[in-house]
Amino acid sequence: MDTEAFLDSVSEEIHQHNAMMLHALMKLMFDGELSREQVAGWARQFWVIPHTHLINNAGKLAHAQLWRGGFLQQLMESPYDRDMTAKLGEAVLDEMGKTEISPQSHYDCYFFLTDALGIPMAEMGRPEDLLPNSLLVMHAWTKSALEFSLLELIASHNFVNDHTNTIAYPRLCEALMGHYGLSRKAVTWFDLHGEVDKAHGAMSRSVLAQLVQTEEDRRVVRYAVKFGLGIKWALFDGVMNAYVNKSYPI
Ligand SMILES: [Fe+2]
Repeated sequence: MDTEAFLDSVSEEIHQHNAMMLHALMKLMFDGELSREQVAGWARQFWVIPHTHLINNAGKLAHAQLWRGGFLQQLMESPYDRDMTAKLGEAVLDEMGKTEISPQSHYDCYFFLTDALGIPMAEMGRPEDLLPNSLLVMHAWTKSALEFSLLELIASHNFVNDHTNTIAYPRLCEALMGHYGLSRKAVTWFDLHGEVDKAHGAMSRSVLAQLVQTEEDRRVVRYAVKFGLGIKWALFDGVMNAYVNKSYPI
């Protein structure tokens, strides 16, 4: 199998196991079957994703020259790559709202949603409100950004999310506006990622095509993808247990 066919098969796997589209909580969301309080509970927990976007992208930039293995091996194997650094630097600038395709700070935009749902900004991220699953996700997600190799990071963070966000986020925006009465402004964070991630998706695929050279690299990609998929499954399981099944007391 050549690299393009390999990436197609991984992409297929991601679409078939994507929590944003397939988790039972999201199905309830898309069908308009959650209460507004449940949507607000979900938004409180989903905050860990926008909260970690900048550090995760900065982590990837820091790893721009470190592809795999231990750092001395990495330094020998991966000479400074201007294009790679520029691509990853662009994602950091997008995050801060400093590019043409992304003129607003992503983090700031998330509060349009929580404001509309009546959650005071000062309450976002309060330890007493975050569920155990959300804490695990926040920890694993940022830790991976700092410690994974670039190959693991691009596979688990970008390749998993960027291609599927472009499908799931527009659907989510429609559901939030259509079923839960939110404005277009309130869903800006999801709206803009539906767009920005088209560019990031293309970037992640071309970076992977460059980095994946051996059978071992392919095994690492498949493993990293499974880790990346797990982030939103774990996050939404927590929300489901606390706000829908009520098996976790809050
Ligand atoms: Fe972002």
